[in-house]
Amino acid sequence: MKQNNGWATAWGFLLFLLTSAVSVTATMLVYGKVEETGAGLTTVIVVMLLVVVFLAVLFTTADVIRRRIAVEKPTEQILAATERIAKGDFNTRLTVEHRYDRYDQYDEIKENLNLMAEELKKSEILKTDFISNVSHELKTPLSVIRAYAAELQKEDLDDETRKKYADIIVNASKRLTDLVTNVLKLNKLENAKILPEAEKFRLDESLAETVFAFEEGLENKNICLDVQLEELSVYSVKSYLEIVFNNLLSNAVKFTNEGGRVALTLKKLGKNAVVTVSDTGCGIDEETGKRIFDKFYQGDTSHALEGNGLGLALVKKVIDILGGEITVESEQGKGTTFTVVLKETVV
Ligand SMILES: Nc1ncnc2c1ncn2[C@@H]1O[C@H](COP(=O)(O)OP(=O)(O)OP(=O)(O)O)[C@@H](O)[C@H]1O
Ligand SMILES: [Mg+2]
Repeated sequence: MKQNNGWATAWGFLLFLLTSAVSVTATMLVYGKVEETGAGLTTVIVVMLLVVVFLAVLFTTADVIRRRIAVEKPTEQILAATERIAKGDFNTRLTVEHRYDRYDQYDEIKENLNLMAEELKKSEILKTDFISNVSHELKTPLSVIRAYAAELQKEDLDDETRKKYADIIVNASKRLTDLVTNVLKLNKLENAKILPEAEKFRLDESLAETVFAFEEGLENKNICLDVQLEELSVYSVKSYLEIVFNNLLSNAVKFTNEGGRVALTLKKLGKNAVVTVSDTGCGIDEETGKRIFDKFYQGDTSHALEGNGLGLALVKKVIDILGGEITVESEQGKGTTFTVVLKETVV
């Protein structure tokens, strides 16, 4: 509350004083006049009654006008606005009557309603964007599957072409599965009210297991892997950290060309565990760098068919939930290093 209630109390008190003063003065004047003219008691009472009625009408009218301006008008405006917002018009905004330092309760309600409508509009945009992104990401692999499945129905295909088409279908289905899995994971993380139980575990061992899953991908691209892990026990949510390092390593392998190098390190820095994932891949330009953590954002169009741009959004979400920090350093054409600091986790 910006304007204190003291003003309203003082104003009420002043009005009461004024009313009493006017009544008393009027009574005295009338009494004086009556005494002068020598009129009877009945006349005095009638005149007094008239004065009281007149004053009552005057102040009631003043109060009605005041209520109309100060109470009913803003209440009607607020009511109309809430009705519009309830019907889904999130562009509704109310005009605040007073300066910020002279706000009354109605101004505050109006300001809060404006903020509420703004937030609802933002989440509406996010929701529609999310739906259109998911639909788009679903459509592409689905059309691939449909087209190649139709091709496979043709009888005059040689074995090699048949296998090629089947592989394309398998890859497109994998993309669909990844999309659904990541959307569900993201949804779960965003709606999770309680953090899963943290546990004590060896982070170096968990990282070694994660990197092991990329062995085939690394071999296929003839990528050299450099792993330097300090023995380190941490207290954190293991499954969440697996999401982080899985995605960072998957990106490192995906965006590094044949014969490149991927490195994974784990170090202890006081109570913090610091993990870096670096690669000698295509790198990230400045514009892309600003958006890599956005949902569905894919900077490198040559890899757009591999994945849906949800990996780093998931990573960021997890890091935020765990209270860690993630930074990226990159030079186009030279490579990228992601550094994750898991604060106060070393035990
Ligand atoms: N190591 C990296 N090297 C170069 N670019 C990267 C690297 N990591 C991320 N990026 C850029 O950031 C974008 C977003 O990454 P993100 O992991 O969110 O999506 P994705 O890998 O394209 O798809 P998904 O993770 O859903 O499989 C990538 O499309 C790419 O442009
Ligand atoms: Mg990714």
